[in-house]
Amino acid sequence: MDILLWHEILEPYDLAVKELTVKFNHLIKEHHEKGLYSPIESVCGRVKSVSSILEKMQRKGISPDDMEEQVEDIAGIRIICQFVEDIEKVAELISKRSDIVIKSEKDYIKHMKDSGYRSYHLIVYYTVETMNGPKRLQAEIQIRTMAMDFWATIEHSLQYKYKANIPEHIRDRLEGAARAIISLDNEMSSVRNEIMDAQNSSQIQRNLITDILNNIENLYKLSNKREVEKIQDEFYHIYALNDLQELKRFHKELDLIAEGYRAQAITDEL
Ligand code: GTP
Ligand code: MG
Repeated sequence: MDILLWHEILEPYDLAVKELTVKFNHLIKEHHEKGLYSPIESVCGRVKSVSSILEKMQRKGISPDDMEEQVEDIAGIRIICQFVEDIEKVAELISKRSDIVIKSEKDYIKHMKDSGYRSYHLIVYYTVETMNGPKRLQAEIQIRTMAMDFWATIEHSLQYKYKANIPEHIRDRLEGAARAIISLDNEMSSVRNEIMDAQNSSQIQRNLITDILNNIENLYKLSNKREVEKIQDEFYHIYALNDLQELKRFHKELDLIAEGYRAQAITDEL
C-alpha cells in the first residue's frame, strides 16, 4: 500500500474549494450588478479534515486506495438561499455550467432524513489545474435555505456534543424544530414575491446612485465646477424624495449631459 501523502492529496481540493467559492460569489455579484435578485444568498466551503476523512473511511470500510473515489465530500461547498424555490434555480444554474459536471444528486428536501435534516446535495466533478497538469476531482455541493442551515448547524453541534447519542428528549425537540423550520420556509415562500420586489428595487436604487455619482465625478473633471455643483445639489434634492422613478429620470438626464460633455471634450482634443 502506498503511503498517503495527505498534504499533497488535499492541495488540489483546497484549490477547488477556493475556485468554486470565488465563482459562486461572482454569480451573486453578476445578479446584483444587473439589478436582479440572486438565488444564491451566500457561499462557503471547506476541505474535510484528515481526521474526518479517516473517520469516514473507517465507518464505511473504505480502503486508502479508494479514498479519493469513495470519499466524495473531501471538497465541500455550501450554498445558502433565502427561499426553498431558489434551491432548484441554483441546481439548474450549476447543471448548465461547463466547468461543473453533476455525478449524482440527493434530495433531502423532498425526502427529509429521519433526523429532520433537509438539504439538496450534489456530488460533482470539477477540474483544477495543478503543477502536474489537470486533475479532475469530486466535490459535494450542499444547497439549503437559511432556515434549513440554522437547523443543521444546531443539530450538528449537538451531534458533536453527544457523539451521535443525542438524548431522546432533545431528539424530540429537534424534530419539533424541524417541523417549525418547514412552516417557516413555507411562510417565507408565500411572501417571496413581495420580498423579491423590495430587494430588486433597492438593488436598482443602489446601482443608479453609484452610476449617478460616477457621472458627477467624471463631469467634475471635464466641465465647469459651478455647474457640477448645481447638478450635485439637484441630486441631493432628488435623493431626499426617495422616489425610484425620479431617480431613474435624473440618471437618464445626467447621462445625456455627460454624453454632451464627452462629445465636446473629444471635439476640443481634435
Ligand atoms: P457523511 O458520511 O456524514 O458525509 O454522509 P454520507 O456520505 O453517507 O452522505 P449524506 O448525504 O448522508 O450526508 C452528507 C452530508 O450531509 C454530511 O456530511 C453532513 O454535512 C450533511 N448531513 C447529512 N445528514 C445530516 C444530519 O442528520 N444532520 C446534519 N446536521 N447534517 C447532515
Ligand atoms: Mg460529509
